[in-house]
Amino acid sequence: MTIALRDDLLNWYDKHARSLPWRVPPAERARGVMPDPYRVWLSEIMLQQTTVATVKAYFERFTARWPDVVALAESPREEVLKEWAGLGYYARARNLHACAQAVVAGHGGRFPDTEEALLTLPGIGRYTAAAVASIAFDRPAPVMDGNVERVMARVFAVGETLPGIKPQLYALAASQTPELRPGDYAQAVMDLGATICTPRNPACGICPVMTVCEGRKAGIAAELPRKAPKKTKPTRFGVCYLAVRADGAVLLEERPDAGLLGGMTGLPGGAWTQAQPAEECPPLVADWSERGEVRHTFTHFHLQMMVMRADVDINATAPAGRWVAHKDAASQALPTVMKKALKLGLA
Ligand code: ADE
Repeated sequence: MTIALRDDLLNWYDKHARSLPWRVPPAERARGVMPDPYRVWLSEIMLQQTTVATVKAYFERFTARWPDVVALAESPREEVLKEWAGLGYYARARNLHACAQAVVAGHGGRFPDTEEALLTLPGIGRYTAAAVASIAFDRPAPVMDGNVERVMARVFAVGETLPGIKPQLYALAASQTPELRPGDYAQAVMDLGATICTPRNPACGICPVMTVCEGRKAGIAAELPRKAPKKTKPTRFGVCYLAVRADGAVLLEERPDAGLLGGMTGLPGGAWTQAQPAEECPPLVADWSERGEVRHTFTHFHLQMMVMRADVDINATAPAGRWVAHKDAASQALPTVMKKALKLGLA
């Protein structure tokens, strides 16, 4: 029997769609209300690698401050990076701003409405292009994220391991994507994956597609998708320097655009390297002492960063960076790892 998820999923979505600030609920969508492509795009960029619960507050702040793509494009980039601070994966924020500018400069301030044209924009890959094309413009573009992968692997009982089965899962997702209501369908599969077909303890007993799910029939749904054993993450080591001036101001710097936390504000420091101890390169000559180590995990490595502190003269100068009043530093828009380092250094 061929499996068709569309009707069961859409019926379920009509009753159980999550209420999300960027979403047009199915009843309104049925009356012809279309979502704002800007809000769909912004939410989809934010939702990559970040949970719905975290994204909600950021999304509300961004849209209150920059209600449309023109406003975002015209904002200085530092302001966008500041609002993004804490969301992680900062290349997303740099691309977000570049994309807004490209939409204004190249498309008259309107998001293009096809997957193909969306793919040409900065920071828009296959997932985001499909999500925006389907949700904002009701194009039947196959949307594939971790949730959709899991649902497909289970419904079709694909027992081999990720990442090798990604093309097969994409083909299955594409085969299910309907011409009718593709935007609601895409959101329905993602909601199913987020609320019922969850990674652990899936709620198969209340699943709208339980009767067709091959994984459930075989009693292996919860085990799928199987994953190839992970390589263990390496550890990198670094040093950062907290210079505290006699008036309490601390020295902060803007990190270079290229590389991790690019363009974000942080404590000065050296490169993060595989070997300990990392190279010494204090931002100014002073009496530095060790304050302890912060640990932080990024996608591809764990970081152990020594925090050095020096209390310096009111007239101290540094060749790079800027002095920021103590109370402002604590509330600065800093990446999480830099917040940890500042807190430890000031303790
Ligand atoms: N996760 C990422 N994008 C989503 C969306 N549009 N709906 C539900 N979950 C999502």
